Amino acid sequence: MVIGAQWGDEGKGKITDLLAERADVVARYQGGNNAGHTIVRRGEEFKFHLIPSGILYAAKTCIIGNGVVIDPHILFGEIEALRERGVAVDNLRISANAHLIMPYHLLLDGVSEQTLGRFKIGTTGRGIGPCYVDKYARLGIRVQDLLDEKILRRKIHAALNEKNRLLELYDIGMLDGDQVTDEYLGYRERMEPFICDASLLINKALDEGKTVLFEGAQGVLLDIDFGTYPFVTSSNPIAGGACTGTGVGPTRINYVMGVAKAYTTRVGEGPFPTELDDEVGAALCEVGHEFGTTTGRKRRCGWLDLLALKYACRVSGITHLAITKLDVLTGLPTLKVCTKYKVGKKLFGEFPLHQTEFHHATPVYEELPGWSEPISGALQWGQLPETARDYISFISEYTRTEVKLIAVGPGRDETIVMP
Ligand code: IMP
Repeated sequence: MVIGAQWGDEGKGKITDLLAERADVVARYQGGNNAGHTIVRRGEEFKFHLIPSGILYAAKTCIIGNGVVIDPHILFGEIEALRERGVAVDNLRISANAHLIMPYHLLLDGVSEQTLGRFKIGTTGRGIGPCYVDKYARLGIRVQDLLDEKILRRKIHAALNEKNRLLELYDIGMLDGDQVTDEYLGYRERMEPFICDASLLINKALDEGKTVLFEGAQGVLLDIDFGTYPFVTSSNPIAGGACTGTGVGPTRINYVMGVAKAYTTRVGEGPFPTELDDEVGAALCEVGHEFGTTTGRKRRCGWLDLLALKYACRVSGITHLAITKLDVLTGLPTLKVCTKYKVGKKLFGEFPLHQTEFHHATPVYEELPGWSEPISGALQWGQLPETARDYISFISEYTRTEVKLIAVGPGRDETIVMP
């Protein structure tokens, strides 16, 4: 499994792409097109929002699990764009139980953010939250509903009974149930060949001794249960989400790779203790090209928060770490890593349970020496400057987790695999 160990945007796309080479099946288990994964393949850049990153390998089955929420307009846009670039998507499978993002979800995402005003979450505006709300309210429309016109029409009308009242209240025009149904029926034919029983497919593959790679979106700190609530996404990016989001048992998962940047970024609102509002933060943003793949928003940047990373390792049972963008730190004479939080006079060695404490946490740093020589050409551990190696070793020792991969550039080859 590959998961984000921070607030998303850790560079999971590249790591997934590397690991996908060895997998037979790649499955996404949560989130939707709020995600954005960038992969550079032979100098060509691919951006994925919904489709699993493994799609570039024709021989691998790529699955969108039941835990994912799908905007069909985006899905087919992505499929078309891939086909135009010569990538066949015949290897894509979509769980019949995945929920569909409906036009009213997009409208309600926008309006709910407006209503929250200065308390807004800073969502991606893709309708993700409202879609999950309907899933749990048992008002959702699922992929399998597209196959039964009568049911689809009935469910959309039932949902709109409630949604139209809300839309009216917010002064947005009401939606016509038949029109929405007809629009979604238009996706049926294109969706049908992809629809599958994802749980059966994945479990069978495992029974046959095949390798399945689960691809997480967002990151542990954006998890609805374990993230910095309420400034989180509406799904479970933690490792456990793969079980409920695809239909596999926890006993079948034996390797969890947590991906973390060598520093920290966050998009949207919410607390961020190690955030830097100075020239170092600005340099990280510029050198690291820290702009969102999905929304283009500038990412907030700061020092590596090891306390938060240790927490991510705990709640997700991370067995190995991949540290990305180490090259971005090149040239900084001193590197700081946060090992504790201070709230008032109280010191925290573990991630605070109480959000109010987290909101008021100030970081306690340890300082490590930086390096000045470029490291993007380093192909092996021994080719990294000693201080870069010390930085990685510090991360590993503090989190008590083995660092297995180190990315020193965006390309596939710019990755050090630890022996
Ligand atoms: P939502 O997922 O669009 O509801 O947004 C909720 C929060 O998660 C916001 O702070 C977003 O910026 C953040 N978020 C959602 N998806 C991603 C992602 O892929 N990377 C980083 N942040 C994300």
